[in-house]
Amino acid sequence: MSQPQIHVAGMSSDFPEGQIVGRLLEGKELIFIRRSGSVLAFDGLCTHQPIKLSEFGEILGGKLICHAHGGVFDLDLGGEVLREPPCDRLRSFRCEESFGQVHVFID
Ligand code: FES
Repeated sequence: MSQPQIHVAGMSSDFPEGQIVGRLLEGKELIFIRRSGSVLAFDGLCTHQPIKLSEFGEILGGKLICHAHGGVFDLDLGGEVLREPPCDRLRSFRCEESFGQVHVFID
């Protein structure tokens, strides 16, 4: 397994509370969501079909809803599926914030 590489996802101000921010980093679609002050990072494509969650997703409390077919993921449980049709959890990525920037670790 390769070592995770750290990438700058953007400035802290680019990630307002409760919004989905999409980024293409290292050829990967990722989404970033600030929740209770902390920035979380997840795979940016739904695990049901490769639909961009930055376009079809909505945050409702601690849940991420994919409006393509109604799938729901739990943000606080690392992207666990709460409602099908997706069967697989949304992969999460380690994220850190320092010196006014958001960094994500991608392997
Ligand atoms: S593509 Fe997300 S629920 Fe179908």
